[in-house]
Amino acid sequence: MKVIHQLDEWLALRTQLGQGSLGRASLGFVPTMGALHEGHFALLRRSVAENDLTALSIYVNPTQFNNPNDLDNYPDTLDSDLAAAEALGVDYVLLPKYEEIYSDDFRYEVKEKSFSTSLCGEHRPGHFDGVLTVVMKLLNIVRPDRAYFGEKDYQQYLLIRDMVAAFFMPVTIVGCPTVRESDGLALSSRNLNLDVCSRSKAPLIHELISSDRSDEEVITALTAAGFEVDYISTIEGRRFAAASLQTTEKGKVRLIDNVPLTKETGT
Ligand code: PAJ
Repeated sequence: MKVIHQLDEWLALRTQLGQGSLGRASLGFVPTMGALHEGHFALLRRSVAENDLTALSIYVNPTQFNNPNDLDNYPDTLDSDLAAAEALGVDYVLLPKYEEIYSDDFRYEVKEKSFSTSLCGEHRPGHFDGVLTVVMKLLNIVRPDRAYFGEKDYQQYLLIRDMVAAFFMPVTIVGCPTVRESDGLALSSRNLNLDVCSRSKAPLIHELISSDRSDEEVITALTAAGFEVDYISTIEGRRFAAASLQTTEKGKVRLIDNVPLTKETGT
């Protein structure tokens, strides 16, 4: 596994790997912000299985954080991330720096004007502008055949899939199912910031959005359990949730989840 600290080194290497999709190794790509867990591993396993080569990027993208506390508290577990990536058969790990990714100092951005303003976009202004901008940059840098994204961040996945179509980008976006703890909590790097009390409450989000209660009833039940609810919203057969829990050391920790609704559940 090659760990790449300089973007120029990767760009030279990428040129050697060749252009186009005929007669060269296929390249899969998993962009992440690190603090890797089984959710990320599932994406990496799929990429390793479906491509000749797999690239992983670890880059905590500041332009998608609207809350400085969230950015400051974002977990950093680089050594164990690299060991896990190597064990999974990853070929390249890109560790770019702000100056390399944002050589324009964020003068240019990608903006989606409709869906990105709802759900998480409504509660985190500018968040998806930062996500779409960095993902477009990373896809242009890595130039993979396939890029893998988790359904845990379903709104993000849809926005990236549609951006790639809108800009005729030559990459296939692959959505991968949400990986959960045995109690239903969706795996997330932010779970590391939960203390014992908030960790014990956290699975309630998944339990309630998977139940037959209405969106309003779920909001009431989560609020009663001590959550600060951003939204519970059902759109086109899928129920989306975002809610925060107060922790003693890390302040408010925001959790998101979503589930497809079966006939028996939902509003
Ligand atoms: P990050 O939160 O590190 O997630 C990286 C990828 O892992 C995303 O596609 C996310 O949906 C997926 N993922 C996270 N938890 C998962 C789970 N429990 N099950 C399945 N997949 C999961 O999402 C980002 O980083 C950033 O916004 C990024 C796309 C890298 C742009 O900065």
